[in-house]
Amino acid sequence: MKNRLLTFLPICAVILLSASIDLTSLFDYDGQTIPSYVPNNRDNTPNNNDMTDIGATLGRVLFYDKKLSLNSTVACASCHQQQFAFSDTATVSKGFNGGFTGRHSMRLVNARFGREENFFWDARAATLEDQTTRPIQDFAEMGFSGTNGQPDLDSLISRMNDISYYPTLFQNSFGTNTITEERMQFALAQFIRSIVSFDSKYDEALANAGGDEDADFALFSAVEEAGKDLFMANQNAGGAGCDRCHNAPTFDMDNDRNNNGVITVAGNPAGTDLTNTRSPSLRDLVNPDGSLNGPMMHDGSFTTIRQMIDHYDNPPFNNNLDGRLRRGGDDGTQSQNLNLSETEKDNLEAFLLTLTGSNIYTDEKWSDPFDTHGALFLLDGDCEVTNANLTADISGGQHQSIASDTIGIDCNVANNASVLYQAGTSITFNEDFELELGSVLTAQIAGCN
Ligand code: HEC
Ligand code: HEC
Repeated sequence: MKNRLLTFLPICAVILLSASIDLTSLFDYDGQTIPSYVPNNRDNTPNNNDMTDIGATLGRVLFYDKKLSLNSTVACASCHQQQFAFSDTATVSKGFNGGFTGRHSMRLVNARFGREENFFWDARAATLEDQTTRPIQDFAEMGFSGTNGQPDLDSLISRMNDISYYPTLFQNSFGTNTITEERMQFALAQFIRSIVSFDSKYDEALANAGGDEDADFALFSAVEEAGKDLFMANQNAGGAGCDRCHNAPTFDMDNDRNNNGVITVAGNPAGTDLTNTRSPSLRDLVNPDGSLNGPMMHDGSFTTIRQMIDHYDNPPFNNNLDGRLRRGGDDGTQSQNLNLSETEKDNLEAFLLTLTGSNIYTDEKWSDPFDTHGALFLLDGDCEVTNANLTADISGGQHQSIASDTIGIDCNVANNASVLYQAGTSITFNEDFELELGSVLTAQIAGCN
């Protein structure tokens, strides 16, 4: 008995410490500074969904909550991982039931900034709000499709009504605790729009140059500067013409364009798909550790930057190829031939590497709020779970009695307060309390019994 007890101590400690959101001290999502060189007309925030810290916090919970998939195994974050700029290194991603997505997952960095307001590689979602609940209702991704025997979104909403943290989070975000698809969309879109990144070498150099993209960047090496010139200049001026579609300083996609010659289907190189005309921002193609955040393009067909540059050097022709990638513009019948030298390709690559930031990869405000068992505490008031030195009594079967004096909740409460804590639910502490020596927290924690 004693041995078993010791085995469980570290597990329970991690659970209680990692999984809490303090409603009285939220992360700052709304107040983030956007550099003045970002044009105002690139912000796709609609009038009816201004960001709030609580709304983005709810969005964070939704984004990381596996209970939003049919069998509670997959969350948005399964395919959009913070450590990879909210993408996936796999070519296609695995859904809740082992099925795969049809395309490569997209990075979600600076999704807020773009002239193109439609989302997905094929721009089929009219807005970010519209996009956000589609994965939940996708047959393969999260499974509340309402087709082929799957339940629909209403059944997810009734599930969410029984998850204790949701009514409180919806109440605080929207004034009532009613859960609707629109409110889920608002919160998820707020969280995604909060993922902003302007701390790359490019940003530092641009700010240093007074926000003038075309100025010489004193902070760039000669190679990076030469790469920038290639990226920015049109083909007829000796450049590679990238900026015509992926416009600096946000490197978002022009809202009027056709395909870029990458027309195969992920996992089926013989198939053809001409519909992909949107790209996420070209920021953070590469991780701070130097590796790619995933293969590039909708079909993940390029696994090195050089392969991607070689593609643009002389893309294969198709009838829907964008005019900017043809010789002779829209009416051209041949694709462009940039004839980039090896040095020029190196330069372009060096420039693209300057677009990687660092904060998005580690900032806790975009990290997983849940513990490894999918549980979450909402703390409201002066409570703080501080001390991991728990003692657990497993003699009561599933129930873990945790001696209160060691749990380190720094508040006042009546003696013998008893709280049932189940995986997947949360305890909301509504008033100050102190667990005194001898009082007991009864916890039922999956994985600890
Ligand atoms: C099973 C993997 C998977 C899950 C789960 C998933 N996504 Fe995605 N996501 C993808 C893939 C793949 C794409 C590109 C799909 C396409 O274009 O057809 C994508 C695209 C997106 C885009 C479009 C980005 C852009 O710039 O156009 C957004 C936003 C997004 N996902 C948000 C979410 C949210 C929010 C959730 C959870 C509700 C979620 N995703 C769940 C794989 C996933
Ligand atoms: C005609 C507009 C256009 C031009 C010009 C253009 N691109 Fe693209 N780019 C696209 C489109 C459209 C996509 C998405 C294609 C897809 O996945 O099918 C894309 C995707 C990409 C991607 C993949 C992004 C990701 O998240 O996987 C990279 C990298 C890229 N382009 C770099 C460049 C570079 C470098 C240049 C200049 C040599 C360039 N592009 C010129 C339209 C353009």
